[in-house]
This record gives sequence, C-alpha cells and structure tokens, in this order.
Amino acid sequence: MTFYHLNVFFHLLASVYWLGGMFFFAAVGAPVLRTLPDARERSALFRDLGRRFRSTAWIAILVLLGTGIGNLHFRGLLRWEIWSASGFWITAYGQLLAVKLALVAGMISVQLVHDFWLGPKASAVAPHTPQGFRFRKAAAWLGRGNALLGLVLLYVAVRLVRG
Ligand code: HEM
Repeated sequence: MTFYHLNVFFHLLASVYWLGGMFFFAAVGAPVLRTLPDARERSALFRDLGRRFRSTAWIAILVLLGTGIGNLHFRGLLRWEIWSASGFWITAYGQLLAVKLALVAGMISVQLVHDFWLGPKASAVAPHTPQGFRFRKAAAWLGRGNALLGLVLLYVAVRLVRG
C-alpha cells in the first residue's frame, strides 16, 4: 500500500463517518428519540447524542480537509501555476473540483451554524416552549439539508475521479 492509497483510504473513511453519521441521525436516531414521551428526557438525549456526534464529526471534517489536500498533492495538482491558470478552471476536472470545493465550504458553514449556534440554542431553551420548538425544528432542517448537500458532494466526488 502506498501513501497515496492510505490517504484515499482515510479520505473515504472520514467521508463515510461524517455523511453516515448525519444520515443515521436524521433517519434513525432523531425519529426514535421523538417517540420518547418525557420531553425533558428527550431533550437531554438529543443534547448528549448531538454533542458526542459533534466532537467526533469535527475530527472527521479535519481529516477530510487534510487528506483532500493530500489527494491534490498526490495527483500533482497542488501547484500555484495550476491554480492560477484560468485554463485549468475551464477543464471538466477543474470545474468539478471548483463545484466540490464550493460544496465543501457550504457544508462546513452549515455545520458550524448547526453545531455552535442553533443546536446549543435548541438544547438550552425549555423543550415545551414555542421558542424551543422553533429552534429544534430549524436545527433538524439544517441537519437534513446538510445531509442532502452531502449526497450532491458524493456524486461530484465520484465524477471528479471518473469524468
Ligand atoms: C478540502 C476538501 C477536499 C478536497 C481538496 C478533496 C479532494 C479530493 C480528490 C482530489 C479526490 C480524488 C482522489 C483520488 O482518487 O486520487 C477526492 C476523492 C473523494 N472525495 Fe474528496 N476532497 C475534499 C473533501 C471531501 C469531502 C468533504 C467529502 C465528503 C464528505 C469528500 C468525498 C470524497 C469521495 C467519496 C472521494 C472518492 C471518489 C471516488 O473514488 O469515486 N471529499 N477528493
């Protein structure tokens, strides 16, 4: 196994963890938690699961960024002459890379708002108040929206490698 293979392995592992975790939370974790009758217990479990996933998901995001830059290096693309040449960005590869990087920036921004603003606000407000309901709903929609962006990113990543 070369360093390149190892780098792609960790890139894929981190992407599986981050995206898989988001889908698990949206499709399995959250619907099960919502069936709990006790509002306080429900809110505490949401908060604890969210915090635990948040800290591990940010490790995965850092691994994705590091190994993503590594992928560019192994493909010989981490060079200023390439990035500053307008010709590169009109090739199919350059365009897909630009879309992928924009999606990565978008997903990380949504994750920041979800994890460090809306999520903590939703857990801090009493669960049965209208304000608590609004924050929880907004946090849930942001989470689902980011999972969908992740699907688009996955498609772009597959096309980036295979054209
Ligand atoms: C700075 C951010 C990133 C950069 C620069 C980057 C760059 C790359 C590059 C150059 C490849 C091709 C690797 C190769 O086969 O040689 C790749 C593959 C891949 N990337 Fe990223 N990536 C980034 C972030 C992400 C993120 C956030 C995800 C998903 C959440 C992701 C998912 C994937 C997947 C699934 C592949 C494999 C595609 C395939 O083999 O079909 N990447 N990435």
